[in-house]
Amino acid sequence: MAVDAEQFKHALRRWPSGVTVVTSRAGEKIHGMTVSAFSSVSLDPPLVLVCADKASNTHPVIAEGRVFAVHILAQGQEPLSHRFSSKADEWRRFEGMEWKSGVTGAPILPDALAVLDCRVVAAHDVGDHVIYVGEVETVQVADAEPLLWYGGRYRSLSD
Ligand SMILES: Cc1cc2nc3c(=O)[nH]c(=O)nc-3n(C[C@H](O)[C@H](O)[C@H](O)COP(=O)(O)O)c2cc1C
Repeated sequence: MAVDAEQFKHALRRWPSGVTVVTSRAGEKIHGMTVSAFSSVSLDPPLVLVCADKASNTHPVIAEGRVFAVHILAQGQEPLSHRFSSKADEWRRFEGMEWKSGVTGAPILPDALAVLDCRVVAAHDVGDHVIYVGEVETVQVADAEPLLWYGGRYRSLSD
């Protein structure tokens, strides 16, 4: 018998992860969303992946622009995670933010624990998501503690 959605989510809530905001650009259009489905893939070449819901607004922007920047969030950046996951004002997520363009053209937000600016090298259509594999072109790293996600809520290393 197939696993139902509640059982699936119940099990996956047992998986602790960090929290990222993934941004992208296609021409003049910029967008981004909160993503926990992020992983490293390869060291040589340096590859990472993110899984984007096909129903998200971010997915078609990555599909068209073929670039994305992964921001690994630091402790205290719950408001940024909330801003980039909330469906209220989703087209105003960058308003009032001092973002810059990365080398790929993807928007780079300030104050993340680490930023990986990537160019899409593969896209895999799987179920209701698309796995985007990106080659990392630049990295930025800050000295801070990570924001964690476990059991459906934000945590810190000291929790
Ligand atoms: C902690 C957290 C992790 C999330 N991880 C993902 C993810 O890995 N992939 C995804 O497609 N959506 C994920 N979401 C949901 C999106 O952030 C959310 O649906 C967002 O509103 C999509 O924005 P958009 O449709 O404007 O692109 C996550 C949300 C939260 C709060």
